[in-house]
Amino acid sequence: MKICAIILSAGESKRFKSSIPKFMHNLSGLPIVDYNINLLKKIKKITKFEIISNKENLNYFQDKGYSPFKQNPVDGTGGAVRQFYKKNNKYDYYLVMLSDTPVFDYKVISDFLNKSVKTNSDISVLSQNISNPKGYGRLILNNKKLVRIIEENDCDNIQKKINLVNTGIFMISKRAISNINLIKKNPNKKEYYITDLIDICNNKNLNLTTIVNSGVPIQGINSVKELNDLEILSQNYIKNKLMESGVRIYQPETVYIENDVSIEKGVVIEPNVVIRRGVKIKKDTIVKSFSYLEDCRIGKNCSIGPFARVRPSSDLQDQIKIGNFVEIKKSKLSTGVKINHLSYIGDTVVGKNSNIGAGTITCNYDGRNKLSCLIGDNCFIGSNSSIIAPVKIGSSAYVAAGSVITKNISKGYFAISRPKQKNIKNKIK
Ligand code: UD1
Ligand code: MG
Repeated sequence: MKICAIILSAGESKRFKSSIPKFMHNLSGLPIVDYNINLLKKIKKITKFEIISNKENLNYFQDKGYSPFKQNPVDGTGGAVRQFYKKNNKYDYYLVMLSDTPVFDYKVISDFLNKSVKTNSDISVLSQNISNPKGYGRLILNNKKLVRIIEENDCDNIQKKINLVNTGIFMISKRAISNINLIKKNPNKKEYYITDLIDICNNKNLNLTTIVNSGVPIQGINSVKELNDLEILSQNYIKNKLMESGVRIYQPETVYIENDVSIEKGVVIEPNVVIRRGVKIKKDTIVKSFSYLEDCRIGKNCSIGPFARVRPSSDLQDQIKIGNFVEIKKSKLSTGVKINHLSYIGDTVVGKNSNIGAGTITCNYDGRNKLSCLIGDNCFIGSNSSIIAPVKIGSSAYVAAGSVITKNISKGYFAISRPKQKNIKNKIK
């Protein structure tokens, strides 16, 4: 059986009021359209999938390695499917998804697909019961049988109260889709609506069904406000999955965690922490309040923060302690390193068990280039030291507090670089 999946992404995003189309906006760290793309890639039964784009956004998809189908003119969701079908009519089923209605849980779609095929439906609509149906197409049932979908603008006051809505996800058989040319333009919007195919196929006595989503809720977005609402849903999905896997999150509503993170069981996350895409945290580490982590790796039994910032490409091994107002950028901290307060470590490798005192700064930028430092094992860097890159500090070296280090230090040496203190009698009374 040949199944073709399409993601409709050619709309003009007028209601979104943004300089870029809504599907490009990030939702928990991923462009909205990526959710359905990633999901469809996982479903083995799909023979082919294609993105439908308008001509303005073709480059966006081509740059990501896809060959989108161009919808021209942009004449509605029905128009998109109609234009695509005209050039691609050899499939048994067409799975239609929308780029502005991301689905988080792959199982929701794979179950929907399996059930649709099993029940031999000509059209299956994935529907959902929601308390505030505003903006969605409403499903009209007759003796429990799906007969029509009516869009918000065309609903009368009674129909507006229907809570069973169209998620925009359809499985359409070859037989049903061959009627696509019978869709007429909606008189109000002057667009072809894919939802009108239901009424047409009902009149032809085709087998129409709806499958009500009882899994992770699905929400479409047409405005920035709706994107913010969806963000809450997506955050709950990500954090609930982590908590189910043994990650302790205090006051989860204050914590923001993006997609594509890996956080092992036993990790504790305190309130008001931000964990962005690509972060990996090993077991039994604690991330204290107001810390901000991006695309970095943190080993086991570490203590991060409060108020720590770990920037991309940083690799913190096990039993690391970084405290308040410590920033780590593109650096490797070996096992047992301690940087307890107020420091910036950038483009640096720090060896095992070294202790970096409060206010230590690696001066890694000379105005043109980023330069790196190497600090060996078991070093002690006194507070308020500046380490001017490039510099190498040998293992077990000791840097006196307040030093400005511009030269390499050999293994086991003591370095001090600060003006001698003068005590002069104060004559001013
Ligand atoms: C659509 C459905 C509605 C459903 C809701 C779910 C129709 C007519 N209405 O409404 O029943 O409850 O989604 O979120 O289908 N697009 C194209 N080409 C076009 C127009 C739109 O590819 O010519 C794409 C858009 O980029 C978008 C999707 O189709 O990703 C849906 O379009 P949108 O205008 O947002 O439809 P809704 O009014 O939200
Ligand atoms: Mg929409």
